[in-house]
Amino acid sequence: MEQSILNSPFKIKNVEFHNRIMNASGCNCTTSEDLLELVSSRSGGIISKSCTYEYRVGNEMPRYYDNDVLSINSTGLANNGYEFYAKYGETIKSITNKPYIISVAGIKYRENLKIINKLQQYENHDLIELNLSCPNIIGKSQIGYDFEASDELLRCLYENIDNHNIGLKLPPYFDMIHFENMADIIKKYPICYLTCINSLGNGFVFNELMEPSIVPNNGFGGIGGSVIKPFGLANVRKFHELLPTMPIIGCGGITNKQDAYEYIKSGASLVQIGTQLIKTGPELFDMFLT
Ligand code: SIN
Repeated sequence: MEQSILNSPFKIKNVEFHNRIMNASGCNCTTSEDLLELVSSRSGGIISKSCTYEYRVGNEMPRYYDNDVLSINSTGLANNGYEFYAKYGETIKSITNKPYIISVAGIKYRENLKIINKLQQYENHDLIELNLSCPNIIGKSQIGYDFEASDELLRCLYENIDNHNIGLKLPPYFDMIHFENMADIIKKYPICYLTCINSLGNGFVFNELMEPSIVPNNGFGGIGGSVIKPFGLANVRKFHELLPTMPIIGCGGITNKQDAYEYIKSGASLVQIGTQLIKTGPELFDMFLT
């Protein structure tokens, strides 16, 4: 595949990404400093940390660990609250015309509706990514694994707002029937893109001292990094087959250009980079684009 595809622009609705590479939500995008680094990087767009209604300190530290092949995190949606990300859009847009996506992950089901409703009052974000797949809120299941709840959430959302610039961040699915269940739900609503996949929930990793590598939730957390790439590719391929006109952002285990091409060949239009971005920092984008 040609290098030029990674450098080429791509539109979701009327929103033009400068190239095909950007950060994954949660990676280098929580604070104003993080976001400014993305602004001055070569990323084709910017997505915020998944936000809740209020500021959240998140789970106990250490809550992130990585090694050569994987990462594990249980961040617990540590974020500055939706208002911060909405208002910060003004700063971002005063410097760049890259697309700015706000990722939303209400702790409670109704919180998602409340945040998205409030975001309607702000002008400086281009898209909303509704995260149905955070695995790290202790005592809460991932909405994306509950098909009835996902359908109900989307039904309430579109009954109450007229916003066609909302994408979904999905968890990884492993069962063919589950892909079909989710695709059938998505078909009912004007979802404008999908991001596949979030981390593989509730893995466990020992550190070099043979202790749980992270503290929250007895060491269980979302797995990212190279080891999850086969699942990311499978999810992109399957959703592309079931929903051929839906733009898909591929995510999961992308460390180099070859990985990015594999996602694009599987049906992704853009890719997001998580673990490798945390390891390398935003200069990573240069490597993909040169
Ligand atoms: C977290 O904040 O715990 C991770 C968020 C996510 O994986 O969606």
